[in-house]
Amino acid sequence: MSEPVTYRLEGRIALVTIDNQPVNALSHAVREGLDGAITRFAGDDAAEALLLTGAGRVFLGGADITEFGKPPRAPSLPDVITAIEGLEKPVIAAIHGVALGGGLEVALGAHYRLAMPGTSLGLPEVKLGILPGAGGTQRAPRLVGVAAALDMITSGTPIGPEKALEIGLIDRIGSGDDPAAAGLAYAEELLAAGAQARPVGALPMPQDAPELFEARRAALEKSARGEIAPLTALDAVRAATRLPIGEGLEEERRLFQQLLDSPQRAGMIHAFFNDRKVAKLPEIAGVAPRDFASVGVIGGGTMGAGIATAALLAGLRVSLVERDADAAERARATIEKNLAAAVKRGKLGQERRDAILSGALDCVTGYEVLGGADVIIEAVFESMDVKKEVFAQIDRVARPGTVLATNTSYLDINEIARATSRPQDVIGLHFFSPAHVMKLLEIVVAGKTAPEVTATAFALGKALGKTCVRAGVCDGFIGNRILSHYRAAADHMVLDGASPYQIDAALRDFGFPMGPYQVADLAGLDIGYMTRQRKADQRHERDRYPGWADTLYEMGRLGQKSGRGYYIYDEQSPRGRLDPEVEEIIAAEREAQGIRPRDFTDEEIVERYMAAMVNEGARVVDEGIAQRPLDVDVTLLYGYGFPRHRGGPMHYADTAGLGVIRDRIQRYAGGDDHFWQVAPLLARLADDQSTFASLNG
Ligand code: 3HC
Ligand code: NAI
Repeated sequence: MSEPVTYRLEGRIALVTIDNQPVNALSHAVREGLDGAITRFAGDDAAEALLLTGAGRVFLGGADITEFGKPPRAPSLPDVITAIEGLEKPVIAAIHGVALGGGLEVALGAHYRLAMPGTSLGLPEVKLGILPGAGGTQRAPRLVGVAAALDMITSGTPIGPEKALEIGLIDRIGSGDDPAAAGLAYAEELLAAGAQARPVGALPMPQDAPELFEARRAALEKSARGEIAPLTALDAVRAATRLPIGEGLEEERRLFQQLLDSPQRAGMIHAFFNDRKVAKLPEIAGVAPRDFASVGVIGGGTMGAGIATAALLAGLRVSLVERDADAAERARATIEKNLAAAVKRGKLGQERRDAILSGALDCVTGYEVLGGADVIIEAVFESMDVKKEVFAQIDRVARPGTVLATNTSYLDINEIARATSRPQDVIGLHFFSPAHVMKLLEIVVAGKTAPEVTATAFALGKALGKTCVRAGVCDGFIGNRILSHYRAAADHMVLDGASPYQIDAALRDFGFPMGPYQVADLAGLDIGYMTRQRKADQRHERDRYPGWADTLYEMGRLGQKSGRGYYIYDEQSPRGRLDPEVEEIIAAEREAQGIRPRDFTDEEIVERYMAAMVNEGARVVDEGIAQRPLDVDVTLLYGYGFPRHRGGPMHYADTAGLGVIRDRIQRYAGGDDHFWQVAPLLARLADDQSTFASLNG
């Protein structure tokens, strides 16, 4: 293996290059290499300055995340950075691609920083449940001030070089496309001007700003939803205003270690690696996707317009087909509104928007236009008859090799595929609403779907910026199937005495952005009603029925869109307030069903809800609907608001212990052995004292 850190003299400048592909993570070998380079430079009389660069696509991607949780090995990153900072001759960092986390902290240990155009500079540690632990919380506020440092550290959002220059994080934006060449030229210029070592740690301590810290703390307490890292990072930055650099670094280390040992860190790192593993599937390894540049969308309602917007934002051409001219016009208006919002949020330039609307979008009524599409996505009403009719029509106009996708939420995609003469080209692309915003895309592989079609679906999802999860065909696929199970568990608790408001609050405290009844109000109570109708003939006589939900629907309480659902929405409470009438309707239902209500603690609410989620997740994995437990975790995280710091339901179960979850379910079965039956996979793993993670590969 080649050396991860090389040292070479370029005239009077020592060029130190870190080469640890793919992202130059600061592994033990890299830290050792850097340590050696520092010592060599200090004693190298021919070297007057040191230039730090990264080989390949990026400068430095940060600490090596795979080392977290393992015993630490010297030299530590903070020590290496302090040694860089302490060098008596100037040290310059030439940054390209990314400088993230420990990578930016290395640059902060240098005395001068140059970044190439398009670079991303950030301290994203809070997104991994930790804080910058190699001096970032102490050096960044000294360099850019407390407010700008807090922005970077507590949000974890990276910035570009222009902003970095403006706040003083870097000294220069380089030109050309060779960071080493730009860095060498800059180093020469500095030496010619007599530049000296200039340690950030020696800058004056930043001034404490109690009001700023208090305001930020209050805002974070609201937005962090139970995450401890942003608040702990805030404490670390505050330490920079109160302690000299050496003590500040020690305090940072203490807080870093505290987070490193926390279950939240484990959950977020589980999520980080799952984000990357989820699209790695043996069935499409080495399979080339088909080319796609144009997408046909059928149906321009809630989903169709959103899907069209997502495709347009990704630079694809879109032909949208609706039933009549009015509906086509309405679809176009919705897409225009979506694009205008994207312009407002800075996601799209005005010129691109104009170009899209004049050249890349067609909203029409005839199917012939679909003959030019590489991928066709159907988003018409959720009716098997309508969908079969639509697929038969697509079959007549689409070119051979076109991918034919359905956005159905529940229907049998094998049956839809049989309506065509080419079932190998048919696949499910289950987007979430709003489709141009939500990150999750379930890619539902049907019985006859060709691997090339699956590979194309994953490539398309990636182009649309989605996190793609492979699912198999069943009622509700991965996400909605599990949802219907834990929603039922919540409804059972309401029947037995819990208020929907208590359930919502308990789950918000757990970290969900909204509780299930708030979600129901957002989606519309008609959706649940239609689902209950659709499934009426599958209902088992022992299924417990949430009759009050039908009552609310029949009263016209459809949720947010009608101003009333579980909550009341009006000017004084746009986010909804409790309604005693709902409690009365539920009480009447309990009485009608002969149920004596009992109290629930918040803890029991969360445990039952999670047990239902995990149990159905285990069934979904066992049946091969999800290939691995991690696919369930990613689905719940990106489509259902599951708190990222808990990693996902299957990771949550591993953390709690599968035996504990199994025992809970067995206990609940004492009251209802129809709904609560331990999933066979959960039982097997619990008996073996194993984990879901053991199946993730
Ligand atoms: N450590 C170990 N492995 C890493 C890594 C890291 N810091 N960053 C990325 N990787 C791995 C990925 O897991 C992936 O592995 P795989 O090929 O086996 O799946 C591979 O590198 C390539 O990563 P991506 O697929 O994400 O590549 P991209 O080109 O899309 O993105 C990136 C590159 C922007 C650097 C992105 O990987 C990223 O955001 N990485 C994490 C950056 C980060 O959070 N750094 C902070 C680390 S914590 C820290 O520094 C603590 C310090 O304060 C002490
Ligand atoms: P919608 O009712 O808002 O839109 C459906 C559109 O299809 C209407 O504009 C209608 O005019 C059009 N349409 C019907 N038949 C057509 C035909 N033969 N040719 C062309 N256009 C036709 O419905 P929505 O919510 O957009 O749902 C569409 C599909 O997406 C359904 O299968 C639904 O289950 C699924 N879905 C819905 C989600 C949601 O949150 N609304 C989420 C994920 C999937």
